Amino acid sequence: MKILVTGGAGFIGSQVAQAYVQAGHQVTVLDDLSSGKRENLPPQAEFVEADIASPQAAELAATGGFQVINHHAAQISVPASVADPVHDAQSNVLGLLNLLEAGRRAKLERFIFVSSGGAVYGELEGAPVSESFPARPMSPYAVAKRAGELYLDYYAAQHGLGTVVLRYANVYGPRQIPHAEAGVVAIFMDCLVNGVEPTIYRPEDMPGGMKRDYTFVGDIVRANLAALERGHGIYNIGTGVATDTLELWRAVQRAAGRELANHWGPVRAGDIRYSALDCAKAADELGWRPQSGLADGLAQTWAWRTEQ
Ligand SMILES: NC(=O)c1ccc[n+]([C@@H]2O[C@H](COP(=O)([O-])OP(=O)(O)OC[C@H]3O[C@@H](n4cnc5c(N)ncnc54)[C@H](O)[C@@H]3O)[C@@H](O)[C@H]2O)c1
Repeated sequence: MKILVTGGAGFIGSQVAQAYVQAGHQVTVLDDLSSGKRENLPPQAEFVEADIASPQAAELAATGGFQVINHHAAQISVPASVADPVHDAQSNVLGLLNLLEAGRRAKLERFIFVSSGGAVYGELEGAPVSESFPARPMSPYAVAKRAGELYLDYYAAQHGLGTVVLRYANVYGPRQIPHAEAGVVAIFMDCLVNGVEPTIYRPEDMPGGMKRDYTFVGDIVRANLAALERGHGIYNIGTGVATDTLELWRAVQRAAGRELANHWGPVRAGDIRYSALDCAKAADELGWRPQSGLADGLAQTWAWRTEQ
């Protein structure tokens, strides 16, 4: 198949693009390199450097002869979306629409859109949720992701586009960048490499900190392979296991074989206390299940980190 992978120079998109190449597909990557890196690009993929919201991107999507667009490019920071919702929407709403419209004109067969299970559900009650749980986006980033899902519904219903939405849990693994606000595994590993004691944020009634569903990037890549052939609609992609930040910090130290003290801090505005995803639908309809446990995924991530 001919596939356009947007965001294919980034942490997750580059590994999806690589897996598509390895599966024998003809891959073009579209990325503006705002956070992605040229060195992440699979050498066998074509590369077009452009903003997804640009006329150049629309032209590529409309005339490139693609059967599938796999859409990973996005403004990914929740705090940045709060600080500048207009900029967030330019990439995450208008950029998406630019590609959907171009795809419609080109009679695209399938559009795989990456959403966020960690963001669209909002605050959860302490048990993993399925896709039928109401979305309650609490940030411009989450609102834009939910809007994207609704646009996909529209294109499926009105234009017969095959659409798959993958709502990722908290993804970690090789190539993740330790941004200040996301990527806690990458931040913890950086702390261990540099001997800097990390700060763990926690609410007063959660001594181990907030709980998240940490999912290894290799499992995320397999979900994107499955979504090429199967599925329609929205799928949670995670492990269903909620791990608190202290437990994660201990697991990272075990994977690294190093120990370090940590500091404690109060929760930051907008931090969700609990998030975990029930992924039974992906198992039934995509034939996808997570395969990497936390210890295994962290060991692979640490091995990559120490090669850097
Ligand atoms: N990392 C996670 O835990 C997580 C969780 C849920 C959803 N997601 C989603 O997964 C996708 C990939 O995220 P990631 O963690 O790999 O982040 P990333 O920053 O490594 O990747 C995003 C890529 O998109 C590119 N990009 C950004 N804006 C662009 C634009 N306007 N035009 C063209 N390219 C642009 C960047 O240069 C980068 O290569 C995003 O859609 C993100 O919202 C990630």
